[in-house]
Formats: sequence, C-alpha cells, structure tokens
Amino acid sequence: MIQAVRGTKDILPDTVGYWDYVESSFRKISHLFGYKELRTPIFEKTEVFSRGIGNATDIVNKEMYTFKDKSEESITLRPEMTAALVRAVVQNSMLHESPLLRLWYFGPFFRFERPQKGRFRQFHQYGAECIGSLNPEADAEMILLADSLFKSVGISDYNLLINSLGSDESRKKYIDELVNYLKSVKEKLSEDSKNRLESNPLRILDSKNENDIYILNEAPVILDFLDDISRKHFDEVKMLITDSGINFTLNPRLVRGLDYYNHTVFEFQSSVLGAQDSFGGGGRYNNLIEQLGGPSTAAVGFALGIERILLILEQTKKLQEIESSPQVFIVTANPELINHSLKIAVKLRDKKIRTVVDLNRRSIKSQMKEANKVGAKYVIIVGDDEMRDGMLTVKNMQTSEQVKQPISSIENYKNNFEC
Ligand code: HAM
Repeated sequence: MIQAVRGTKDILPDTVGYWDYVESSFRKISHLFGYKELRTPIFEKTEVFSRGIGNATDIVNKEMYTFKDKSEESITLRPEMTAALVRAVVQNSMLHESPLLRLWYFGPFFRFERPQKGRFRQFHQYGAECIGSLNPEADAEMILLADSLFKSVGISDYNLLINSLGSDESRKKYIDELVNYLKSVKEKLSEDSKNRLESNPLRILDSKNENDIYILNEAPVILDFLDDISRKHFDEVKMLITDSGINFTLNPRLVRGLDYYNHTVFEFQSSVLGAQDSFGGGGRYNNLIEQLGGPSTAAVGFALGIERILLILEQTKKLQEIESSPQVFIVTANPELINHSLKIAVKLRDKKIRTVVDLNRRSIKSQMKEANKVGAKYVIIVGDDEMRDGMLTVKNMQTSEQVKQPISSIENYKNNFEC
C-alpha cells in the first residue's frame, strides 16, 4: 500500500463539512468587510519567496519545497501567500486600478517542517491583506477582521499578542544594540542562537531554549528604540483596538519568522492548542511591494492556520458542519421503475432539494437502511402501486410519519422538504 507523504493528510468526507463550514463563514465575513478573493498558482519562481520572505529566515533556508522543473527553472511550492499575492498584485497592475486593495485567500501551503500536532508539511491558510494604507486604522481593521472571523466560528477565547518593530531605522538601531548585548554573553547562548547571531539576530528573541530565555530577560527591548513616528503609529493602533473592545497583550519579544515586517506585528494564540499554540499572525510590510518590483506602497495583513482553527473547534466542541446530507432519498421498489425515480430526482434537484437515488438495485429494506445511514430527512418510495395511482409515498425519517401525495404536487415539494 502506498502511504501519503509524511506531514500531509487526506481530508475525508466525514470532516470535509467542517472545512466547508470554516471556509464559508470566513468568506461571508471577508465580504462583510469589503475584501475580495484572490487566487494564485500553488507554485512560483523561487525568487518570489527568497526575495520576499528573506534569505536568512528558516522558511527560505530550511523549509521550502524547491525543485528544478524540466526547463531547469527553480520552482517553489508556496510556503506562504503574502509574497505570492504581492507578485500577483504587481504583475496585474492592480494598484493602478485602485490605490487601496482589500484581498483575501484560502488554500494549501507547503513547508518542510518536523510534523507534530497542528504542524504539517501541507497545511491550509486563510489570509487577508490590506494594501495601500499607511495609517493605523488599516492595522486595526486587520485585527477587527480577524476577531470577527474567529467569532463567526465560535472562537472568542484567544490571546492577541502585539508588538512594533518600528521603522527600518529604529529596527536597525535596535538590532545593533541587541547584537552588542548578545555578543557579550555569546558563550552562554544555545548553538542555534549563536548561529543566528550572524544570520538573523532578531529571531533569537523567539528562542524556546530555557537558558536563552533567561539571558534574553536582560536584553534591550525593541519598544525603547522606536522613533517618534513609529511610536505614534503603534500608540494609535493600540488605542483603536482598545476602543473597539479587543483585548491584547503587549509582547516586546514578538518578532515573527518572516523578514518583510516593520511596525506592527501580531499573533493569535490559543491555550487549547499545546506546543503549536499560535493559530495566526501577521503585521505590516511597508517595503515588500517595492522590493518585488511594484510602486512603494504600505500594506498590512495576516494569515490563519485552518488545521489549528479546526483543532480549537474540536477541543472546544464547536465543530459544525454545513448541511450536506440528502434531504430526500428515493427508494425504488423495482428496477423497472428507476426511470421514474430519476425523473423525480431531476425535478427535486431543480428545486434545490438535495436528492439521491439508489444505484445498486437493492431491496426496499436495504435502501431504507442506506437512507438512514446517509442521514436523509425524507424517503420517497416509488413503487408499482404508487405509479399506477399517480402517487408517491413520502416518509419523514425523523417522525416516521408516512403520507401519500400525488406526483403532480411535486411543485410544492420545496415546502414539504424544507428542513
Ligand atoms: P505565519 O505565521 O508563517 O505567517 O503563518 C500563519 C499561520 O499559518 C500560523 O500561525 C499557523 O497557524 C499556520 N501555519 C504555519 N505553518 C504551519 C504548518 N507547518 N502547519 C500548520 N499550520 C501552519 C504567514 O504565513 C504570513 N504570510 C502572514 C501574513 C500575512 N503576514 C502578513 N500578511
């Protein structure tokens, strides 16, 4: 037997309804906020991500699925959407048509990480990006949108962590100070952090190593290095979300794993998730669009991990399915009547009633059993007597009530089968 690739999983019919539920709830909320969907290819030229996310990040360094295609072009399965979306925005001159773009997406992403609970090599994200506003109200809109998305699926208990990385200049100043400090204690740092001291010192702040965490307690704090404009922007973001009734925790060590961020960064955490407790995150990326060949344009966005959202819903017993079981199962008493059953099914489906017909020519008893198993709300029995009299037997599977109805009353079936 051939197994699926490690870190990937099939979404079976039993659970696909939960995915539908999350995706359709998120789609509705996105539209409520004026966001439009954008879809891009699942693979891109590698440079979209190496230039966009940053060569020194773990994602680009260790986690990308990169390969040469048959024309020797380096291709990468998208590890995230922001860089790919910016590529699409620039290539399609979308900013010429509108100076402010509100976009959302939903789909699979690929990272070569060590699989564990809530961490996969193919996973799914919903994300939203607001492109074209420098102002703190755009940052606040992102957080309000995320909060509404969570509430739409019943998640109200989560932690929002926020921080500011400030402008490029203040971030540079901070990194210099941080490196100075960390060099003075270099021998005590973990091997990973020692390596990062050269390649990506900010990421040391994310270290999970206990000793590193102890050393970091004495490290300089980024918020002390913000210039006036950065501080004012961040204060306004905090004020706007506070006024909207959203709680947050200030975390000056939050830096996130992608290089394109500046100013506001944020993350959503849930205590029911275990080690991988972050189920979403984002921030501002005012330089990325120019970096990928577009006009200098400010932007802010976030992405949510759908597998982790489903885990939260499972743990908190809030999983819901979009109704997909049939409303009507047509039981055909003998194979000669199958043409009648198919005709009735066509009429019902025309009326948007979810209808299935037995295809295995089974006994009435077996068909009734199957109707029960698939969760049909009603059964219509098409039998010789019924056909002779121009009638149908309709059984309500919940109440077991059974009535005969003229076939001609099919026009009213919509009302009959509303459930
Ligand atoms: P990210 O923090 O790398 O941000 O990913 C966002 C979310 O995707 C994570 O919080 C997590 O829930 C989920 N995720 C990431 N990797 C995995 C994995 N291996 N398995 C399962 N879930 C995973 C970004 O991707 C940015 N593009 C967010 C953004 C949008 N920033 C600005 N705009």
